Amino acid sequence: MDKIVLHDKTFEPFIDNSTLERAIDEVSAKINSDFKGREDIPLVLCVLNGAIMFTGELLKRLDFPLELCAIKLASYQGTGSTGQIQETMGLTSPVKGRSVIICEDIVDTGNTMVTLKKKLLDEGAADVRICTMLLKPEILKDKIPLDYVGMEIPARFIVGFGLDYDGLGRNIKDIYVLSE
Ligand code: IMP
Ligand code: MG
Repeated sequence: MDKIVLHDKTFEPFIDNSTLERAIDEVSAKINSDFKGREDIPLVLCVLNGAIMFTGELLKRLDFPLELCAIKLASYQGTGSTGQIQETMGLTSPVKGRSVIICEDIVDTGNTMVTLKKKLLDEGAADVRICTMLLKPEILKDKIPLDYVGMEIPARFIVGFGLDYDGLGRNIKDIYVLSE
């Protein structure tokens, strides 16, 4: 894999697609065993835009009855968190009384997951679990428990597999890291 340029920045290969898919195999096996034989139908909540590719890969592997819904949140500008979470599209299904599995691309400061989990519980969700493909553990500290984590990575800015740099890079199937 070669370096890529998005807008004004150069990125280098970091995690290849097959490594990501193996991590998704493992995380989906855990979710399948936790949700096996349940009476209720959980809602898988895709956090757009970043989690779109991860959610698609996860859905292919989940083998129990489920429904899909989405919400669109934004907190990043350029290569850093603004610390403010904007809801640019509301929840596409009611969550009252439902068991919700949040599907996120990456947890960095944890602010997005703290805010979203609180919103879902305020709206009456019966149970909320967080599934994230990637985690930058150095920044998260103990802010919120994460139920399912695909892979841990260092606190560097990445793109690809749904993640973007100012809108670009989401369609790249491998993950690239900002060159230092
Ligand atoms: P948090 O609220 O700081 O945990 O940020 C989570 C959100 O920021 C994720 O849903 C991503 O959309 C975005 N984000 C965090 N780290 C990166 C990165 O390295 N590249 C691209 N987007 C990121
Ligand atoms: Mg996201």
